[in-house]
Amino acid sequence: MEASATSKLLVSDIASFVDYVPSNYVRPISDRPNLSEIETSGDSIPMIDLQEIHGPNRADVIHQLALACASYGFFQIKNHGVPEKTIERMMTVTREFFRQPESERLKHYSADTKKTTRLSTSFNVGSEKVSNWRDFLRLHCLPIEDFINEWPSTPVSFREVTAEYATSVRALVLVLLEAISESLGLAKYSVSNTLGKHGQHMALNYYPPCPQPDLTFGLPGHKDPNLITVLLQDEVSGLQVFNDGKWITVHPVPNTFIVNMGDQMQVISNDKYKSVLHRAVVNGDKERISIPTFYCPSLDAVVGPQQELISEEEESPAVYRSFTYAEYYEKFWDTALATESCIDLFKASKT
Ligand code: OGA
Ligand code: NI
Repeated sequence: MEASATSKLLVSDIASFVDYVPSNYVRPISDRPNLSEIETSGDSIPMIDLQEIHGPNRADVIHQLALACASYGFFQIKNHGVPEKTIERMMTVTREFFRQPESERLKHYSADTKKTTRLSTSFNVGSEKVSNWRDFLRLHCLPIEDFINEWPSTPVSFREVTAEYATSVRALVLVLLEAISESLGLAKYSVSNTLGKHGQHMALNYYPPCPQPDLTFGLPGHKDPNLITVLLQDEVSGLQVFNDGKWITVHPVPNTFIVNMGDQMQVISNDKYKSVLHRAVVNGDKERISIPTFYCPSLDAVVGPQQELISEEEESPAVYRSFTYAEYYEKFWDTALATESCIDLFKASKT
């Protein structure tokens, strides 16, 4: 049983016939989810209503964003402008993609982290020691016409639905970036102007039901390497955010997104906004789908703390050196989520 279970490439093709977690998925005791100790009620991350972001109350929305970014690094948004139908179609086509036969899914399989369209499992099978209970399809989607012909062509609506979703979420991200830039006291386009040609990736995460969810993770604690992440999750909980010394569950709210700051926002804001630790736990009897959009600089963009946020006299020197996003992104995949964050490797030298 063990041999045949682990000879499968994807965890979705193992999950349905094991009643235990194969040994390569089992975390050391000190590094398990402790599901019974997690706060599932009470504290959550702020919910921000974007309804008035273009109206007379814009300053109030920006103030809420500033507080959420500085104290949580995470928030939820409603009235965000992405149509309900677009969200529903994206969720449905994702579910249909992962329900296809193994042979159909495996056509897209690759362990090469540099490929711009690929199906894989866990996090980085090439460098990690313990596997994670997740399969994922990763896509580049900006500009769409450069990548759409690599995307899966089944289900038949996949390309159309995903393109519509990616376009709509990008428009939302641009609105958020202008507001976040202003919330840092910068001009509207300052943050977006540091991103070169801009990059946008998506992951379609599929977490199968797990027979022993206390022994493993869907994704262990990590910080996102990109600028800003806009996450869509289905109706099954699983995302946890580390705040004030404890993990809090972000319960799904229909037609909202969860937004978090990534490492590049921490660098650009010179530590005013922090990229925050988060993880995904798995469920004993339900599958879970989540769809993060990772907005990022293009690979050739040179990223560093924004000039206006550095001042030697007032004792806020640059915390990070400048680097290309290509350099950062390669380090992220190499460290295999083992160090939780690779941002410390890019600190300015203290001489
Ligand atoms: C990620 C991530 C969380 C989730 O893909 O980077 O943090 O709930 N996902 O799937
Ligand atoms: Ni993440």
